[in-house]
Amino acid sequence: MDRKSATLDTENTPPVKSRKELTRRQFLTYVLAGTGAFMATTIFAPLVTFAVDPLRREGGTGGLSATTWRVSDFNTNLPTHVSFTEHVDDAWNSHDTPNDVYVIIKDNKLMIMSHVCTHLGCHVNGSYSDAAHKVSAQPSYNGGKDWFHCPCHNSMYNIYGVNTPTSPAPRPLDLYEYQIINGYVHVGKTIQRTDAAWDYNPNPSIS
Ligand code: FES
Repeated sequence: MDRKSATLDTENTPPVKSRKELTRRQFLTYVLAGTGAFMATTIFAPLVTFAVDPLRREGGTGGLSATTWRVSDFNTNLPTHVSFTEHVDDAWNSHDTPNDVYVIIKDNKLMIMSHVCTHLGCHVNGSYSDAAHKVSAQPSYNGGKDWFHCPCHNSMYNIYGVNTPTSPAPRPLDLYEYQIINGYVHVGKTIQRTDAAWDYNPNPSIS
């Protein structure tokens, strides 16, 4: 090979790349990966924050609602109809809503009974406010006389909120948990009862 040929061969040889030099393919790969990571963070970070938010909040489900009631406002003979502002903390919402319940004393505990019929959810009435269905003279069963009436499909409940055997209501009125704090009743979440265990009441004694 002459001198001229040797020179030409050298000129046509592609330059050797530096090991640190990015190829176009690598560059595009990095750009796409970075863009993907940014977009994933943008989309999923708010979702993760939204999902764990209830875990960070104080006073979640089951929090107590203060009332103006004292134990002395209630008796062992008939339920007393009272209202309060219920503080509701569900998973992502916190709000106050008006509510009303019926309260009677049994076995040295309050039975704070929901007004919601266990058939399809209508508002039951105490017999004192519903003369057409005042049935307090009916024979007692399950520890009490008929007293509540549901106007939707005629379910009846006794003074302890226990559904009569012929009612469409499938179970007693729900009870509320409570605590007595500084002499005032604080209302918690509801407890479902069964007919067989209608006097189940895990709340604290009132004296
Ligand atoms: S909703 Fe009360 S009896 Fe049907």
